[in-house]
Amino acid sequence: MDALRIRGGNSLRGELHVSGSKNASLPILTAALLAEGESVLTGAPNLVDVCTLATLIEQMGAKVTHDEDAEEIRISAAGPINAEAPYELVRTMRASILVLGPLLARFGKAKVSLPGGCAIGARPIDQHLKGLERMGAHIEIEHGYVEATTKGLVGAEIVFDVPTVGGTENLMLAASLARGTTVLRNAAREPEIVDLAKVISSMGAEVEGAGTEKITIHGQSQLQPFHHCVVPDRIEFGTFLVAGVMAGDPLVVCGGIADHQAALIDKLRNLGAEIDVDEANRRTTLKRIERPSALDIHTAPYPGFPTDMQAQLMALLCVANGTSSVSERIFENRFMHVAELNRLGASIKVEGGKAVIRGVERLSGTTVMATDLRASASLVLAGLLADGETTVRRIYHLDRGYQRLGKKLRGVGADIERFSE
Ligand code: UD1
Repeated sequence: MDALRIRGGNSLRGELHVSGSKNASLPILTAALLAEGESVLTGAPNLVDVCTLATLIEQMGAKVTHDEDAEEIRISAAGPINAEAPYELVRTMRASILVLGPLLARFGKAKVSLPGGCAIGARPIDQHLKGLERMGAHIEIEHGYVEATTKGLVGAEIVFDVPTVGGTENLMLAASLARGTTVLRNAAREPEIVDLAKVISSMGAEVEGAGTEKITIHGQSQLQPFHHCVVPDRIEFGTFLVAGVMAGDPLVVCGGIADHQAALIDKLRNLGAEIDVDEANRRTTLKRIERPSALDIHTAPYPGFPTDMQAQLMALLCVANGTSSVSERIFENRFMHVAELNRLGASIKVEGGKAVIRGVERLSGTTVMATDLRASASLVLAGLLADGETTVRRIYHLDRGYQRLGKKLRGVGADIERFSE
């Protein structure tokens, strides 16, 4: 298994480039199942999760060409498709559930393994299933699989109980090939939803309101394949911003859309960071600050503070001047990084859904274990801050969502190397 060894304390100087968005790429790849011709996604990051989904679609019978150097994925779902997503692949990546809507809409049937829980919580899919049923699907859960059939989906008005990103995407995909108009209320507003709406519109189904809580999709009987360049990854961008506040000398983060991380940038400014945003050229410049002020955050659906950034910001709050708090309101068990940050000398207590972080003057390097994707990034950031050597083990989690993070950070001066244990 691979690990990262980091010697903390170096300044980060130069340019860091943000890759294409993982979370936007995943639903867009499944959108290729909606059309017969060849769809092309460019800017797709070379990440394990993206490859897993491409493999899943290929195993169903689609022709998939993944040119990793060109960051381009071509998918042609013209031939016969076996509308089934087996447990072996779904269990490694929950987002595989996003094939359900497109398969059902185009082929009238789909069999997809239930994703089950994961390290950060139970993560049900009831909202996906409720919406599809409302559109005319018959759904049974048998032997751990969702088995869905329909004689033809029809547009419906659906109000989500909670704004779910995956649920909104699955239903948008299904609605694009449904008869009539679908209205989604209390929809997720994340930038990934807006990117997916652009893809679906380019395929021929009219989409209004993406990015707001009400999305209207006018379904079509047939869709064209798409050619789309994916939006930049806002979580990788945000992770680099935190690195810049820790160690920038200065650090220029290129390619990220500042508007997509407005809540994080606001919090970073509150804790004392100077951030120069050149939105037109997508260049954000940051300098290290002496010691951050403490602050309180709570995670919320977009445009609130993203749950996918709380672990990384917490690494910085470990050395803040005063006591901070982080309340996690999206996933019930997303504090796995806390025990590991404490091993690095942090002073964090978890009380229910809230972590209370008493700022310490410094962290000190040791061996820590990555537990999930964003927790891994938090440990890498903490390692950049800590005195001495930090080893982050089990970084396969990191490979799911960060394209060559170690190499990118080394390029701007971090003392970081990857090795096999
Ligand atoms: C997506 C992101 C993930 C991010 C999360 C929240 C992808 C591939 N993943 O995950 O990185 O952390 O959004 O921003 O884009 N829920 C239900 N019923 C459902 C669906 C969700 O109760 O049917 C709940 C979840 O348990 C959670 C909340 O809704 O509490 C939000 O989850 P959701 O937005 O669906 O997350 P994902 O799409 O799985």
